[in-house]
Amino acid sequence: MSKAALILALAAVPALAEPDAQALTRLVRQDCGSCHGLTLRGGLGPDIRPQALTHYQAKGLTSVILDGVPGTPMPPWRPLLTEAEAAWIADYLLTGDQR
Ligand code: HEC
Repeated sequence: MSKAALILALAAVPALAEPDAQALTRLVRQDCGSCHGLTLRGGLGPDIRPQALTHYQAKGLTSVILDGVPGTPMPPWRPLLTEAEAAWIADYLLTGDQR
């Protein structure tokens, strides 16, 4: 492997990187928003604004994001997100201080 390829390979290992707040915010608005509505107040998927998620602890919410809701259109995000990224999104959804 050339040095450049090695550097690229390392840069692609998400577990080594801190969650990228800007990229994750975009993912929540665009990808989650495609089902849960642009403002997350519900569409095909339910309202996932803070006031609708009071029955969740951060840990449970992280699992829903990583594993989805089997038997429903809510997909598992484990193939695309690290646990740290899913935990970041869970915190983002629960605190909602950005809206
Ligand atoms: C393909 C459509 C789709 C996408 C994309 C999607 N969801 Fe969902 N989501 C759903 C559906 C449908 C449900 C309801 C499942 C059920 O019936 O329990 C759901 C349920 C949920 C729940 C549980 C809500 C509750 O009150 O129990 C959470 C939290 C959630 N989604 C978060 C997310 C997040 C975060 C993302 C982006 C990373 C996302 N979803 C992307 C369709 C989607």
